[in-house]
Amino acid sequence: MREQWNNKLGFLLAAIGSAVGLGNIWRFPYVAGTNGGGAFLIPYFFAIVTAGIPILILEYTMGKTYHGGAPVTLARMNKKFEILGWFQTMVAFVISTYYVAIIVWTLKYLQFSLTLEWGDDPTGFFLNFLGATDSASNLGGIQMNLLFPFLIVWAIVAFIMYKGVRHGIEVVCRVTLPILMLLIVLLVIRGITLPGAVDGLNYLFQPDWSALKKPGVWVAAYGQIFFSLSIGFAIMVSYASYLPKKTDVVNSACITATANHGFEVFTAIGIFGIVGFMAGQQGVDVAEVAGGGVGLAFMTFPTAINALPAFNALFAICFFGALFIAAITSMISILQAVIASMHDKFNIDHNVATTIVVLPSFLISTIFITGGGLNILDIVDSFVNNLGIVGCGCAEVFLLGWFFKTEKLREEANRYSNFSIGKWWNYALKFVTVFVLGVMIVLNTIDYVCHGYGGFATKDVAIFGWGAILFVIVAGFIFALMKGKDGYRDLDEIAHKEGQ
Ligand code: ALA
Repeated sequence: MREQWNNKLGFLLAAIGSAVGLGNIWRFPYVAGTNGGGAFLIPYFFAIVTAGIPILILEYTMGKTYHGGAPVTLARMNKKFEILGWFQTMVAFVISTYYVAIIVWTLKYLQFSLTLEWGDDPTGFFLNFLGATDSASNLGGIQMNLLFPFLIVWAIVAFIMYKGVRHGIEVVCRVTLPILMLLIVLLVIRGITLPGAVDGLNYLFQPDWSALKKPGVWVAAYGQIFFSLSIGFAIMVSYASYLPKKTDVVNSACITATANHGFEVFTAIGIFGIVGFMAGQQGVDVAEVAGGGVGLAFMTFPTAINALPAFNALFAICFFGALFIAAITSMISILQAVIASMHDKFNIDHNVATTIVVLPSFLISTIFITGGGLNILDIVDSFVNNLGIVGCGCAEVFLLGWFFKTEKLREEANRYSNFSIGKWWNYALKFVTVFVLGVMIVLNTIDYVCHGYGGFATKDVAIFGWGAILFVIVAGFIFALMKGKDGYRDLDEIAHKEGQ
């Protein structure tokens, strides 16, 4: 029998746990920082309303109506759609392989926090700690100092996955989310009470209208929403598939989105407060500090922590502890999306499905703890987010908006909802979202083809960036063509019974 969440609260906590992740704490501040701070918030909120919430409602409704991981759910809607579900699943799989590496760094940094081990030169320390080589293809072997925490993180993750949805994922989220909240509240109070914090906050909130003319800012905003809300890459469909049919998904989507984005902006307030303080101490511009890119969490932030007047170790622990918890509850959702896809199509036992997902992800992820790991991660993350997730999200709204009666899904969502979604929802998906995402895909592709990425060698971008996309496509095709269990495209008996 297919598992179900204990109750709606359990589902909501798991969904919020999935959404709130590295995307909120590690990614949002640097994406906002590098895209003009306050200017970024306008496209960001626009993207939440035109894509984030409508797609979340869509994915929740799909999952709870068709009771399957993304490929099976899509196959039940129209058998030609299944392939898209496999592309989404493969995107999730690729993300799982590098997401874990960041959790490993975080775990080590949690330990370093006790003694502020990074010393006076956090940037040099970080690169040295990773054994970072000069290029992505110069692997330089597995870094032995990372191996032990790597095994620990995988052991924790695998343990939760084997326990399953209700006894593993749900329990972990119920316990850890309140702790996460507490850590972030402490951090924010500290951040906003520091001298100079106001400069950081001004940078975050002062709109720079001219930045709105730059397409790149819009692209970044939509990309951030997809990653942060866990939409477009199979996760929320699979989580909703463990819900009873009669669940109110409209209100669940609003709660998840509000919690996720509220948390994202709230955390950013703390981080920018600290960044503002640090900029003041060093006599540099906030923009300069905030634009630190992927290194913000592991290079800039430790520098800021060093500068705090008191309780430095405590705040370092709050930060890296929060990052660790948020990342674990997202990592398990990413893997669960892949496990659900395997389980539902091929009718394999939960433990077998877990093993055939966790083991390859574990093996591939070793590449990210080599000396080339940081550079490889940077390239793969960029391609998989900007082309993979956005491409899959665009294909999803396009196929469903134009070749499936979304009106049917709207009625289904409204049937059990406290407040109804209007017809605007169909139009938002069919026109606005498809258009914006379509433009994004074209712009991103042109950009990658013409300019490569981030100054990396063409060969490295080809291997790791385009290679990751090729992997998603080829593996997606293979799984879509493989024979599934008999009648997997029909709603199974349980789903029928629930519907009655
Ligand atoms: N939604 C997850 C995150 O933000 C994947 O990290």
